[in-house]
Amino acid sequence: MKKIGILTSGGDAPGMNAAIHSIVTTASVHNIECIGFERGYNGLIDNATCALPLAKVKHISHLGGTILKSARCPKMLEDRYRQQAITSLNSNSLDGLIVIGGDGSFQGAHLLSLLTDIPIIGVPGTIDNDIDGSDFTIGFDTAANTALDAIDKVRDTADAFERIFIVEVMGRHSGQLAVNIGVAAEAEQILCPEMNIEPHQIVQTVTAHINAYLKVNGHASYIIVAAEKTYPDGASALAEMLTKQIGIDCRACVLGHLQRGGMASCADRTLATKLGAFAVDSLVNGAKSVMSGEVNNQLVLTKLVDTGLGKKKIDPYLLDLYKNKLSL
Ligand code: F6P
Repeated sequence: MKKIGILTSGGDAPGMNAAIHSIVTTASVHNIECIGFERGYNGLIDNATCALPLAKVKHISHLGGTILKSARCPKMLEDRYRQQAITSLNSNSLDGLIVIGGDGSFQGAHLLSLLTDIPIIGVPGTIDNDIDGSDFTIGFDTAANTALDAIDKVRDTADAFERIFIVEVMGRHSGQLAVNIGVAAEAEQILCPEMNIEPHQIVQTVTAHINAYLKVNGHASYIIVAAEKTYPDGASALAEMLTKQIGIDCRACVLGHLQRGGMASCADRTLATKLGAFAVDSLVNGAKSVMSGEVNNQLVLTKLVDTGLGKKKIDPYLLDLYKNKLSL
């Protein structure tokens, strides 16, 4: 193995740069040259490459975003563009490709791997932590801490105004971020797709809390952490509904893309460094069409097709604790 390509795809995640650093550094130990494709799969389709010498990846692990840029790439759903991507892999004489991204990026990688013998390996980089085959994805820890920091600040103003707040966090279709952040923030209520809570039940829960706690102890704040996409109309519509039905001011605060930015946490940098190095070592050892992940402190490879099966459950102990003790 002499030369490999790297690309970052889909939603960027803090720690992607640490993965790039680790891949290039590990590859150099094996005397493998690295090149990058810019803007995700678009760079592969358009053959937009950049050299990745060791000097270019030194001291980048802390940086948010990705030095290779990222993008969504609907073109990958079309066969003619996938053929173009294969042409790029061949014209650059690559012996392997490493894709750092999430579920959609791995579907793309799997489809490509059906058209070529060049081995392709995934590294899980997404703030959503919704990938099967790794307990944590790169970026989840940083995003959770960024959101938590923001909610601690929302709590100050919520307390001062004695308001209800709905704080919407990211997660695509997963409640991993919402549940972890909600518990850590001592949110009075957590909402996510996995919980299947109807809007009228939210009203009941808030009202019960007001009667049992707020009226007795004096007025205070009430924070609901909601995963995006849990309700079709979003946090603002929910806030309006609660204000009308409960008679207490309720505000929506959508944290949005700020959760994707910022310096990667120590946990994300170390995870990215391990998974990046393991991806290169696995390529060298002949692996293909798999993702490098960590499960129970063991580095493991999972077939790319099995990374998006939705088998990953939110920590059942944490969920049970929240439902049966913390939310009472
Ligand atoms: O997958 C990462 C993520 O940030 C999701 O949490 C979110 O739903 C989505 O990407 C947003 O995508 P975009 O930046 O393309 O709007």
